[in-house]
Amino acid sequence: MPTEQHRKPIKRSPELAPLSRQHHDGLLLVFKIKQGVRKSIETGRISRYVHWYWLEHLAPHFELEESLLTPLLPASNILLQQMQREHALIRKQVSDLKESAEPRQLLDLAKALDDHIRFEERELFPYMEATLSRENLEKTGEALSDTKIATGTWADPFWI
Ligand SMILES: [Fe+2]
Ligand SMILES: [Fe+2]
Repeated sequence: MPTEQHRKPIKRSPELAPLSRQHHDGLLLVFKIKQGVRKSIETGRISRYVHWYWLEHLAPHFELEESLLTPLLPASNILLQQMQREHALIRKQVSDLKESAEPRQLLDLAKALDDHIRFEERELFPYMEATLSRENLEKTGEALSDTKIATGTWADPFWI
């Protein structure tokens, strides 16, 4: 199971909290990939789950961050650029993931996602909370409160 650190609620402004809850689920994906590789689960089973999770959860999450956060910072902001660069890397890693993936590819994706979530939680979001106007932060919070979270389940829990 995930470590205590993964379960501990992250201190976050209420406005950005919906994104942080999605990050918590993203860290569970990291755990499941690593657990699948550790248990020598056929990589196709893990890849199929990753592709499903990507379509249901991660791709919409990335789109939400890009559409809501990008307009709030100057294009030259290095934290914004890091977010965009890491999104592009993870998108490519997911689209390159085949049924015949090597375990290494899955672990590289898990690491990139883990690092990306921690970067947003520890650097990007605190920076936004400290620098955005109250009005912009509230507008972002309102837009996020309207978002629907997918609730479908996956029938092959290989990580158990
Ligand atoms: Fe992101
Ligand atoms: Fe994120």
